[in-house]
Order: sequence, then C-alpha cells, then structure tokens
Amino acid sequence: MNNIKLAAVCTFGLEAVVKRELQNLGYENLTTDNGWVYFDANIEDIAKTNINLRSAERVMLVLGQFKALSFEELFNEAYDLPWEDWISADGKFTVKGKSVKSKLFSVPDCQSIVKKAVVKKLSEKYDIEWFSESGAEFTILVSIHKDIATLSIDTTGAREGLFKRGYREKSTIAPLKETMAAALIQLSYWNKDRILIDPMCGSGTIPIEAALIGRNIAPGLNRTFASEKWEKVKSEYWKNTKIEARKKIDLETPIKIYGYDISKRAIAIAKQNAIEAGVEDCIEFQAKDINTFKTTPFDYGILITNPPYGERIGSVEEISEIHKTIGKVFGRNPTWSNYIITSIENFEKDYGKKADRRRKLYNGDVKVEYYQYYGQRPEQ
Ligand SMILES: C[S@@+](CC[C@H](N)C(=O)[O-])C[C@H]1O[C@@H](n2cnc3c(N)ncnc32)[C@H](O)[C@@H]1O
Repeated sequence: MNNIKLAAVCTFGLEAVVKRELQNLGYENLTTDNGWVYFDANIEDIAKTNINLRSAERVMLVLGQFKALSFEELFNEAYDLPWEDWISADGKFTVKGKSVKSKLFSVPDCQSIVKKAVVKKLSEKYDIEWFSESGAEFTILVSIHKDIATLSIDTTGAREGLFKRGYREKSTIAPLKETMAAALIQLSYWNKDRILIDPMCGSGTIPIEAALIGRNIAPGLNRTFASEKWEKVKSEYWKNTKIEARKKIDLETPIKIYGYDISKRAIAIAKQNAIEAGVEDCIEFQAKDINTFKTTPFDYGILITNPPYGERIGSVEEISEIHKTIGKVFGRNPTWSNYIITSIENFEKDYGKKADRRRKLYNGDVKVEYYQYYGQRPEQ
C-alpha cells in the first residue's frame, strides 16, 4: 500500500530522465515540478529508489505542501505535520531552506520558524524539553516556490547526494558529476550492445557510468544513506533491495567502452576508479590526444564527451581545435552519433554542423548545452 510521498530531486532539465528511471522501477502517477519528481510510495521504496536511481541527486520524503503567505501560517502548518512519525526523540535534526518568487523570502527566518515548529511538536509528543541529538540524522528542507511551501526530509543524506557512488577515490580537474554522466548516457542512443567512446574521459565518469548501466549494477550498492539509521526504514528493506539488485546484474553481455584522455595521470585515475566500480573489464582506457584521430576507429559508434570548457583547463585555441576534430572525424561519419556537453557557445561552428537537438542543462552552477547529433543505427 502506498502511504507516503517521495520526490526524486534532480538538476533542472533532467526531470524527464529521472521520470523515466522511476517508471522503469515500476512507479506510476509521477508529477514533475522544477527539478522535483513526485511519486506515491511505501517505506521500502526509500531504500529501492536511493539504491537504484542513477540521475537524481537525492530522494526526499515529502511530509506536506501548503500555501504560506505569513510566518504564522508557516509555523502552524509545519507544526501540524507528523514529525514524530519519523524523527526519533534522540534525532539530530537541522533545517535547510530555499525560497523562490515568494512572499516569505528570508530563508534564515523560514528555517528558524520551521525548526521552532518541529521542536515544539516533538517536545510535546516525547514530553521532553532537551534534545540530546545523539541519534540518526534528519535534514529537513523548507522549500518555498511561488508561495507554496514543501516540507520534506532528506532520506539520502545532506552531505553525500546520490552522485556519491563510492568508486571515485581520486578525481581530475573538472570532473562531471556521476548523476549527470548517467543522465547524458540515458539521453543518448547508447545501449550495451553498442560501442561507446569518450575521447576526453578525465577520471572516467562517462565510461564508468555507462558500464554500470550496461552491467545493470545499481549505483547505490556500495554506499550508505542517512535513512538507513531511521527506525522506520528497517534494515531488512535495505538488505532485500540489495539482494534484488545484485540478482539483476548482467555479467554476461560483452560491453565495449573506450576512454581516452591526453593526460596519463587522468587515465591512471580512471583505471583505478573503474576497478573500484567493478567494471574494469568493460572499458579500455588509453592515453591519447583526440587530435591524433584521423578516422573513426569503428562504424556505428556513439561518442559522449565533456571537453574542456576553458574556465579551468585548455586555451581557447586548443578547445576550438578539439571541437573541429570531433566534427571532422566523428561528425563526418554518418554511422556515428555524437553527444557533446559544453558551455562554449560557438561549439556548432567549430564542429561544422547544427546539432539535431540541443538541451540546456546545468553542470553544477555552469550553464551548459548538450549537443546531440544522431547517426544511423546499425542494421539488426
Ligand atoms: C572537463 S574534463 C573531462 C572530465 C571527465 N568527464 C570526468 O568526469 O572526469 C576534460 C578532459 O579533456 C582532457 N583533454 C584536454 N585536451 C585533450 C586532447 N587534446 N585530447 C584528449 N583529451 C584532452 C583533459 O585532460 C580533461 O581530462
């Protein structure tokens, strides 16, 4: 029986990808709003979604949503929510906040009002005045958008969003978030039967995330989540979800992914990360300058890459040269589908062709575009 409301929170622009992931996990009646994908669930689903979602940043337990035009309304509505159903007497709780286009715009005030309401409610319910805060972590979020307040608790953990898979021991400059890499792959035509190349793979995030998808390895199998310590989310839910997820791993299908980078250090890090992720057998890494490619190494391949943006690495000329090479080598072969994420505005000019589709995304705080060029599919 579905008796709670959850929301998978993601980067703006990735709602459709997260929605599709949730549908593939069997959820229905999904509603989307500004980076939040809401769905009805039961308590076990807290474990299921945290362990299986690839592109969402975190899973929030939504306790209530209401109109709040005054601090009094915010306090009263917040007080009425069943905090005691979730937060134990020894719970360590903090309140985070954000407010967009709303009458209640002072985030610190909103946080402190909600904190007071929660403290009052829990003091009455547990008949205590002092909270030891020595137990599980509950990060409450008060998020107000156009005067509608959503109050939720972070089931993933405030410090370690879902991008933390547990395999990235070391990283290079400007790595892509694992959640974003997984989304870029899922927005492409790639599937495990096709060849994938990232010619500027840095710490290997795109190849590794693709290998995890290809092997059907749930991304959250090797980490912990804040709600594992919550009394209500029983340890058997996590155990059973992990057993289910492990059963679904496909170790049979041969997977062909290639990761290149001009930096030998980056390649060494990428190899180590792939070992940590348990997918080193799927990926061939090699130190290589993209400008040495004269032709595509295969037909019917997929290129997904995140070239240097120039803010942290590479001069304008070097970056322009890289874009030209991608266009000349991979763009001219009609059997290749090419996907490039960059913040550089004249990318299409250097590549030599307008993209079939452009998608606006955010890589952290940087506004980027995902240029998608569709090639022919291999004959079946
Ligand atoms: C934005 S980073 C890629 C980050 C990567 N997606 C990750 O998650 O770690 C760009 C990468 O391009 C590499 N690079 C720069 N010039 C190159 C070239 N000419 N050929 C191949 N790689 C190059 C850099 O060494 C850097 O690792």
